[in-house]
Amino acid sequence: MLTHDKIERNVGLLIVLTILTISVGGLLEIVPLFFQKSTTTPVNELVKPYDPLRLAGRDIYIREGCYNCHSQMIRPFRAETERYGHYSVAGEFVYDHPFQWGSKRTGPDLARVGGRYSDQWHRTHLLNPRDVVPESNMPAYYWLDRPLKDDAIDAKMKALRAVGVPYTDAEIAGAKKAIEGTSELDALIAYLQGMGTALKQTR
Ligand code: HEC
Repeated sequence: MLTHDKIERNVGLLIVLTILTISVGGLLEIVPLFFQKSTTTPVNELVKPYDPLRLAGRDIYIREGCYNCHSQMIRPFRAETERYGHYSVAGEFVYDHPFQWGSKRTGPDLARVGGRYSDQWHRTHLLNPRDVVPESNMPAYYWLDRPLKDDAIDAKMKALRAVGVPYTDAEIAGAKKAIEGTSELDALIAYLQGMGTALKQTR
């Protein structure tokens, strides 16, 4: 018969049983999330799939590694909600594949930055943060003021559709045209300005 004593003396068995226990615990926590309405459906009708410009902007955000300093998840604590606004809920991120929640906060959380500043503020800030926030240690992204080239934007939308983002054929067909004549800066700012705007700001 297996006793606790035997398990503790047999490292191999201990490892196998530990992995088994953790896996069952993990699955019990994770699997229901795939079926719960609150995590699989948009929190309200203001949560929409990213339009082509914002989608391209999101890719630039990932390419430039903004997530290395910025999280996009406000935790449900008073100190956070007073500073940033309503805490983040899963239903705001149903069209994010993958989501950019993160946990590294060298800079402020960006989950509700949409609408907080003007486009011009973002433009100046991204090209050289110290022009608007003298003590900032955020890098200057001066190269973003160049034409946006994203030949795969329609293919990306098709790929997203395959994982459940409801893009229409017309939206995909018009994607390249929709980003024509824009800059990388335009795209990134469009993405930032949409962030977290579906839920009412509390500050
Ligand atoms: C090395 C860390 C670092 C990186 C990388 C970084 N930031 Fe920042 N960011 C900061 C810091 C620190 C601040 C606060 C000071 C300021 O406003 O510049 C900030 C502020 C901001 C703000 C203003 C937020 C607010 O609520 O006031 C925005 C918007 C922003 N960053 C966007 C970006 C974007 C977009 C990128 C990627 C292109 C990026 N950041 C990359 C550190 C970083």
